[in-house]
Amino acid sequence: MMVTKELELEALLQENRHFEPSEEFRNNANVKTPDLYNESSEDRIGFWAKQSERLTWIEPWTKVLDWEPPFAQWFVGGKLNAAYNCLDRHLKSWRRNKAAILFEGENGDSRVLTYQDLYREVSQFANVLKSMGIKKGDRVTIYLPMIPEAAIAMLACARIGAPHSVIFGGFSAESLRNRIEDAQAKVLITSDGSFRKGNIVPLKSNADIALEGVNCIEHVVVVKRTDNKVAMQEGRDIWYHDAMKNAQLTCPVEPMDAEDVLFILYTSGTTGKPKGVVHTTGGYMVGVSTTHDWVFDLKEEDVYWCTADVGWITGHSYIVYGPLANGATVLMYEGTPDYPAKDRNWEIIEKYGVTILYTAPTAIRTFMKWGPSYPQGRDLSSLRLLGTVGEPINPEAWIWYHKYIGGERCPIVDTWWQTETGMIMMTPLPGITETKPGSCTVPFPGVKVEIVDQAGNPVPKGSGGLLVVREPWPAMLRTVYNDPDRYVSTYWSNWKEIYFTGDGAKWDEEGYFWLLGRVDDVINVSGHRIGTAEVESSLVDYPLVAEAACIGKDHEVKGQAIVCFVTLKEGFKVMDGLVDELKQHVGKKIGAIARPDDIFFTAELPKTRSGKIMRRLLRDIAEGRALGDVSTLADAAVLDFLKRKYNEEE
Ligand code: WTA
Repeated sequence: MMVTKELELEALLQENRHFEPSEEFRNNANVKTPDLYNESSEDRIGFWAKQSERLTWIEPWTKVLDWEPPFAQWFVGGKLNAAYNCLDRHLKSWRRNKAAILFEGENGDSRVLTYQDLYREVSQFANVLKSMGIKKGDRVTIYLPMIPEAAIAMLACARIGAPHSVIFGGFSAESLRNRIEDAQAKVLITSDGSFRKGNIVPLKSNADIALEGVNCIEHVVVVKRTDNKVAMQEGRDIWYHDAMKNAQLTCPVEPMDAEDVLFILYTSGTTGKPKGVVHTTGGYMVGVSTTHDWVFDLKEEDVYWCTADVGWITGHSYIVYGPLANGATVLMYEGTPDYPAKDRNWEIIEKYGVTILYTAPTAIRTFMKWGPSYPQGRDLSSLRLLGTVGEPINPEAWIWYHKYIGGERCPIVDTWWQTETGMIMMTPLPGITETKPGSCTVPFPGVKVEIVDQAGNPVPKGSGGLLVVREPWPAMLRTVYNDPDRYVSTYWSNWKEIYFTGDGAKWDEEGYFWLLGRVDDVINVSGHRIGTAEVESSLVDYPLVAEAACIGKDHEVKGQAIVCFVTLKEGFKVMDGLVDELKQHVGKKIGAIARPDDIFFTAELPKTRSGKIMRRLLRDIAEGRALGDVSTLADAAVLDFLKRKYNEEE
């Protein structure tokens, strides 16, 4: 971590604009006074204990937190069920017939599921899973498009206590296989395909390839979505609609210990294979329901739209578990924002009267590029609150979002968090926090985030350093699936009892936080974390490639683009078409999101004397910056060569 200097430099950038919520918004907000900040910092444990009352518990907990660093247990002894909290309890009130999911398909088809409908489908599907022998603790992999069945499958797993592992539908067969094998899942739920910009992504065929040679999967449930022709393997594969026909309408909920696993979600790290981040039931549900209520200022009549895919943590926490626990109406859209036209998102907002929109900076930058005429052609007056997540938002994109989407009336909540944190950790509270474009403002009540130097000491206001979480929080990851050592070494080894986020940040004189991106080698493409190691291994997997180093380079729309430096094996020459072939190869191995933007060939890679590839230098070259400290570089000539070559090819 040689970042402190860079962070100090970046910390000089200043953004002085600020925005206050309107009088009207403030008066009606769920959180109206800053008292919560004081109360929660005086008694963090008491604060979270109080928030646990939002949930319906089967058995009350006896202790809020049991902390044996770095292993935490929250709400010890409590029993509850996540699906019960998202469904059953709402049936006792008028919410029974409230829309839980408003589904809009890519082709314009739509479906409304009330809480009662969703409850029934979830219960039936839970019975289907049970009939396949799934019991509490068994893992189920979900590989589906953004259709209601994705949420149904997740909640059905939660209902019977089977941890789910959702794999983003854009991942390749091989990525799917690795994740199925790591989790040793027994059932896979997929679909005959997924609509994407008028084409069909063949999820089931991918799944068939993924399952070759895999022994753990006993059954595959296939949702019919596209009518794409698929092969069904006798005895293993079954159509969702056929399985549901005979399934009973009610299914008792499994009482889960607060610390029983709710789900595993794979995320990229700097080294090795993706990590299975483990989230448990009680603390996670308390964390996501509290944050969803306060950050989005949720009102009973809101139409809430989070544009993330359920395959990412944002989809888990803020499409499914948080909003449904709070009885919200959630809009779910299957397709992309430019199909069939570039105003699709705005058309949807107009059609459903969406009031809250939660999206990613990369999407906002794309909308900016398309120009304001698309949102201006639609009625967006229903919107009252906007949110962003996934990467730092540039102040200009923030202002554009504020002006053209929010009509200068909607507060923007820039929410910082991670797969590992489970819940939003830093954010404005929209009725009270003055916002500054580009800053995620301050930690959520009950959350202790800090910026420290290399020694772990807090840095003074006005300077930058490494972003850490000082105290355990309820929705924190509990471990890495099957690999507690990796949990300890990845997150807790820099300093004792302090969680390291991997991000660099600064705080200004007023204590506002500004995120500066990752300080490790994780690349953030369009808000999706991609491990350099994964891309590099897939390149090296190609027969001609000897070695590869990948970095993230600033990109106007995607935030970062993947740039790879590749050396070929002895005796091989760069031939025409090799770049495209390598790009395709990575796309096939990991998924289209990991496809490199640029590939450069070089005879050597810059390495430290101990043989570590110096990605920092490659980044400098790729971004055309002056070189940083090269004193540890083994062969300085390599760099001159690389730099010249890069400039030539650009
Ligand atoms: C980045 C997504 C700046 C950060 C929920 C973090 C952000 C990583 C923000 C986690 C934000 C997320 N401002 N950076 N508001 N939100 N990030 O696990 O680098 O997919 O560590 O979780 O995204 O990505 P993940």
